[in-house]
Amino acid sequence: MLDFEISKSKDFSLLCGMDPFKSIAVPRPIAWISTVSKDGIDNLAPYSQFTNVGFNEPHILFAAQLNSKGKRKDSVINAEETRCFVHNMVTYDLREPMNISSLSSDPDVDEFETAGLTKLDSFCVKAKRVAESPIQMECEYVTTVRLPGANPMSSSDLVIGRVVCIHVDENYVLPNGKLDIMKLRPLARLGYADYTSVTDVFEMRAASMIKTPIPGGYGWMSPESLKLDPTHKNL
Ligand SMILES: Cc1cc2nc3c(=O)[nH]c(=O)nc-3n(C[C@H](O)[C@H](O)[C@H](O)COP(=O)(O)O)c2cc1C
Repeated sequence: MLDFEISKSKDFSLLCGMDPFKSIAVPRPIAWISTVSKDGIDNLAPYSQFTNVGFNEPHILFAAQLNSKGKRKDSVINAEETRCFVHNMVTYDLREPMNISSLSSDPDVDEFETAGLTKLDSFCVKAKRVAESPIQMECEYVTTVRLPGANPMSSSDLVIGRVVCIHVDENYVLPNGKLDIMKLRPLARLGYADYTSVTDVFEMRAASMIKTPIPGGYGWMSPESLKLDPTHKNL
C-alpha cells in the first residue's frame, strides 16, 4: 500500500511518479459549457470537474481553477455576468472539437468558431447551444463558491446553475423512454491524458427501493411513464 498524507509532502511524484488524485474520481463526465460575455461574445470550454446536484429542482455545477495568467476563466466570468450557461453533452464523436475548445484563448475569441461548431439559440437563456451535441441543458446561474487552494493560483470556483430547459435529440431515446446511452457514447475523463466512453450498461435496482419504493426514483415523470417500462410496474 502506498500511503500519502497530502499535508506532509508537496509532491505525489515522490511516491509513485504520477499524481493519483487526478485519476481516482473517474470516469468524470465532461461539462461542455457554453456562455456569452456581457459584450455578446460566445464562449465554449470543457470542464471535467462536473456533476449534477439535486433533482427537484435540478442543478449542475462545474469547477474552474484560475487560468495560466492567474485570472478567472472566461466561463466563470461570463456565467456570473450574463447569469446563465449551457451544458452540451460531449459524446465520443465530439471528442476532437471538445479538445480544440479547451485552448486557452482571449475573451474575444469564439470557440464555437475555432472548433467549427454550429450555434443554436437557447429557449430560456442567452448563451448558445452546440447544435452537434445531442443533449443540452440550459441553466440559470445561481452562485459561485470559492474553494481556497494551497496558494491563490490554485483556488477553485464552483459554479452552480439551475437547469431550466433540457433538449434531447429524439434519435437517442429508446422506446421505453430512457436515453440511449450506448448510442450516445458519452465521453469521460480518466485523469492524465486518458479518456473513456460508455460502451457497456447494466441494470441493478437500488436495494433500498425494493422495500420502500420512492415514486420517480428510477426517473419516471408520471404514472403514464410507467407504461413505457412494464418491467417496473411493481413500484
Ligand atoms: C477534457 C478537459 C477537461 C477539463 N476540465 C477542466 C476543469 O474541470 N477545470 C478547469 O479549470 N479546467 C478544465 N479544463 C481546461 C479548460 O477547458 C481550459 O482552461 C479552457 O481554456 C477554459 O476556457 P474558458 O477560459 O473559456 O472558460 C479541461 C480541459 C479538458 C480538455
